[in-house]
Amino acid sequence: MKSFFITTAIDYANGSPHLGHAYEKVLTDVIARFRRQMGDRVHFLTGTDEHGQKVQQSARKQGVEPQQFVDNISEEFRGLCKRLNISNDDFIRTTDERHKKVVRRILQQLFDKGEIYKADYKGFYSTRQEQFLQEKDRQPDGAWPEIYGEVVEITESNYFFKLGKYQQWLIDYLKANEDFVFPRYRQKQVLEFLKDPINDLCISRPKERLSWGIPLPFDENYVTYVWFDALINYYSAVEGTDWWPASFHVIGKDILVPAHAVYWPIMLKAADIPLPKALLAHGWWSVSGSKMSKSTGNVIKPLDFADQFGVDALRYFLIREMNVGQDSDFSPDQFLVRYTSELANNLGNLVNRTLNMTNRFAGGLVPEPAELDKPEQDLRALWDKTRDEVLQLCEGFQFHLGLERTFTFITATNAYIELRAPWKLGKSTEAKDQALLRTSLATMAEALRCAVGLLTAVMPETSQKIYGVLGYQPGSVWSDELVWGNKLVGKKVAETAILFPRPEKPATEKK
Ligand code: ME8
Ligand code: MG
Repeated sequence: MKSFFITTAIDYANGSPHLGHAYEKVLTDVIARFRRQMGDRVHFLTGTDEHGQKVQQSARKQGVEPQQFVDNISEEFRGLCKRLNISNDDFIRTTDERHKKVVRRILQQLFDKGEIYKADYKGFYSTRQEQFLQEKDRQPDGAWPEIYGEVVEITESNYFFKLGKYQQWLIDYLKANEDFVFPRYRQKQVLEFLKDPINDLCISRPKERLSWGIPLPFDENYVTYVWFDALINYYSAVEGTDWWPASFHVIGKDILVPAHAVYWPIMLKAADIPLPKALLAHGWWSVSGSKMSKSTGNVIKPLDFADQFGVDALRYFLIREMNVGQDSDFSPDQFLVRYTSELANNLGNLVNRTLNMTNRFAGGLVPEPAELDKPEQDLRALWDKTRDEVLQLCEGFQFHLGLERTFTFITATNAYIELRAPWKLGKSTEAKDQALLRTSLATMAEALRCAVGLLTAVMPETSQKIYGVLGYQPGSVWSDELVWGNKLVGKKVAETAILFPRPEKPATEKK
């Protein structure tokens, strides 16, 4: 059995979850569910990143202790996972003792090996980015870019990790491992970044400036730089088990370079820990064409959409709309279009017609099909082709195309029903028409059952509901469920199913 350990980024506990967080969890969940279905042994980790300046500042603003502040926010992220039906096996917090212990041990180990040294540092510091700046970070007019917020000049002693020493090693590693970063063009960006010399990394913050962090084990006057702390979560969560190395770290494109593609591999290399097998960098969501930001107030509350349309409608939209790796836009209008035309009018319609006609013409029991004629054979052949293509697409994270193909098959099934017109056949008493009626009822039900198999990773709840109304209990071997095999013959179907009700009011108008 293949082991597959997958992680999301751990979210900053300095604010509530937004659409970007929801997307990353759903995407990772779809991958995890898909791998489980393919028979892998899967471990899925997510969590919260709770130390650092931003958290300390946010807590102060609310007038609460950092610990209490992060307890609340972390609980919100846990709630998000639950509400989105995320199948994570573990949830790590960087304030967990199990994590802090490992961070301190690795720091001590690197210090003892001479990989960390103390030096004076004089220069410009961005409080917002918690990062020292260099002259090359300035704009052509000499000002600091807005993303850095307030920039102050400071002189202080700090600890540095010998990042630069490993630059050539990393370049060679990336050249030898072309699939370290998905999509591949992002790996090129990493190599581009590595063309300029990289500086050693300042991994400490003096306690008087920042107290909310993990104290350095070799100098308690300092806490650990938040990235050095946070990245280790992937390892600390599974240390002592056989899950490491991770198969994939799923992250957003903003934290690929330098954090995940430069700091993290070098930290592991220096500590003699194997590297993760790959990084998957997804793109960013904008909302109705503009950047999501708390200040402009267009932070989509993902849960509003889940509350209004059902969690699977949100999961479907996120996965159907985004080509993994590229950016995408969340427009409530587009959401409504997909909800109505694809989920309600295509899939929902197929379910309702199947139930309705099976009840009307066969007493609610899926009949035995007779000899398959050309339209049935065509639909079956289309199914075989669809399934093979979709599995291939999902292996390559092309879930949006996988859904598109699956829905093309659903459309074809609805077209098949139009062609056979069971409502006409039902009026005829001729034996030939009655046989064809049974065949068409059996065929639409089987086509629906098959299609649902390809939807379970994206829409787990809806899939269960559809299986339920078909009177069907899927077996434990997923690949068997994807084989056309008249598995529903004799099953008693429900009278009706309510899957995608018409929305009362768009979520955006709700206040
Ligand atoms: O970066 N669209 O946390 P975070 C898509 N704590 N994804 C988005 C997004 C958007 N608009 N906005 C954010 C951190 N994300 C660190 C990670 S990992 C050791 C530490 C993604 O809460 C973002 O790219 O700012 C990242 O992968 C995740 O949400 C958490 O972002
Ligand atoms: Mg961020």
